[in-house]
Amino acid sequence: MISSDPSKRNSFERCISDGDLVIVYERHDSMKAVQVKIGSEFQNRYGAFKHADWIGKPFGSKVFSSKGGFVHLLFPTPELWTLSLNHRTQILYLADISFVISYLEIVPGCVVLESGTGSGSLTTSLGRAVAPSGHVYTFDFHEQRASLAREDFDRNGLGSLITVSVRDIQGEGFPDEFCGAVDSIFLDLPQPWLAVPSAARILKQDGILCSFSPCIEQVQRSCDSLRQNLLM
Ligand SMILES: C[S@@+](CC[C@H](N)C(=O)[O-])C[C@H]1O[C@@H](n2cnc3c(N)ncnc32)[C@H](O)[C@@H]1O
Repeated sequence: MISSDPSKRNSFERCISDGDLVIVYERHDSMKAVQVKIGSEFQNRYGAFKHADWIGKPFGSKVFSSKGGFVHLLFPTPELWTLSLNHRTQILYLADISFVISYLEIVPGCVVLESGTGSGSLTTSLGRAVAPSGHVYTFDFHEQRASLAREDFDRNGLGSLITVSVRDIQGEGFPDEFCGAVDSIFLDLPQPWLAVPSAARILKQDGILCSFSPCIEQVQRSCDSLRQNLLM
């Protein structure tokens, strides 16, 4: 789990405990997030692995099945989470995530707004980037997606750094209570230009907005709205 306490950060000396989330790594294209539970077993084509055998082993350990097959038990970093999460939507991958965090100048302590949450791939990396004192507020209008994302952030130990809310950001904009308190805003929405006026209103002076769109027509409309609302 990603901890906001520096003494509990990812370390090869950190040992696996009952209840921990681990990434069971078979190969670069085959890995699964598993919650460790004494009495449970993980099964794959290499055999059955008892969770009880994993407890007390350092993250990164190679563990063996009853049949002699093996997997590695890795720490659930945001990078591995992006590769192993359940896809409920299209997601951002690491090349784009790195670019977004870098260009939004997100550092520990930042307040970041995001919409939509989707599968929470980007949000997980945002949570780690703002820790230990910042916060990510993420909005999706799809109740079930929001609720599943909230569960995932809790499982990853990020619940105290990320707040998930259900809201139609294209229709209602971001809540006014954030006015002047937001360092960065990220939009991954079908019609992001509809959210730009609200984003422009609530960003801090010198705050940064990034909008991610796959189609050039979306980009053109967003740029028009950015010119109208942010470049006074
Ligand atoms: C492509 S997904 C975002 C993926 C996310 N960036 C990730 O890395 O997992 C787009 C999300 O925007 C949400 N969405 C679409 N229209 C919305 C709106 N008007 N307000 C809030 N969320 C919206 C969808 O429900 C969907 O979950």
